[in-house]
Amino acid sequence: MNDTTRGKFITLEGIDGAGKSSHVAWIVDFLRARGKTIVSTREPGGTPLGEKLRESLLSEAMHAETETLLMFAARREHIAQRIYPALERGDWVVCDRFSDASHAYQGGGKMLDRRRLSVLEQWVHGEGSSQPCEPDLTLLFDVPCEVARQRIALAGRHLDRFEQEEAQFHDRVRHAYLDRAQKFPGRFRVLDGEASLDAVRAQLEKILVDFGA
Ligand code: TMP
Repeated sequence: MNDTTRGKFITLEGIDGAGKSSHVAWIVDFLRARGKTIVSTREPGGTPLGEKLRESLLSEAMHAETETLLMFAARREHIAQRIYPALERGDWVVCDRFSDASHAYQGGGKMLDRRRLSVLEQWVHGEGSSQPCEPDLTLLFDVPCEVARQRIALAGRHLDRFEQEEAQFHDRVRHAYLDRAQKFPGRFRVLDGEASLDAVRAQLEKILVDFGA
């Protein structure tokens, strides 16, 4: 991949109920209005196989390592079929969750060995190859867990397997995300998910323009 023509890879992260998904469409519209060609996608999912795996991952009980391997298997397919080709064409990719979610949920929430996750990440991202697939910008929507829980309860919909986890699980996920943001300050931007919609959008606009949108 030629660095000057390669598109940009933007990921969105946060605990369930952080409000991230309500900003995806706005971000995509904002970038399109600035002349970018956008591929908007999500994980787990993003390909026909990935969407099938998503259904199982969100509903079927399974060993935490099986869950981790399926997340990364879906990701491998996603990178091969959609993300990498889009970036190579010069398109920008906006992805609702990516590998930081595995570090936060499977590493933080399920307390799996971080080194194993890093090995899977390096394998699946193609690290060591001439063109690894790494996010250029990660937007982390941060809210206290109680706020997120109240939002999910208010929405009144069926809860998936991760949303049904106990409060301490989500607390560990949140802190694992914040640890990742501290570890990779170059690509992470932490947004106050408790702020009003307009305030979050103003923060987003500044971040995206500074990023080169
Ligand atoms: P969503 O509700 O944001 O679409 O995400 C689906 C759930 O999958 C969410 O609870 C987080 C979880 N998840 C993981 O546990 N590990 C991962 O690697 C990814 C991408 C998602």
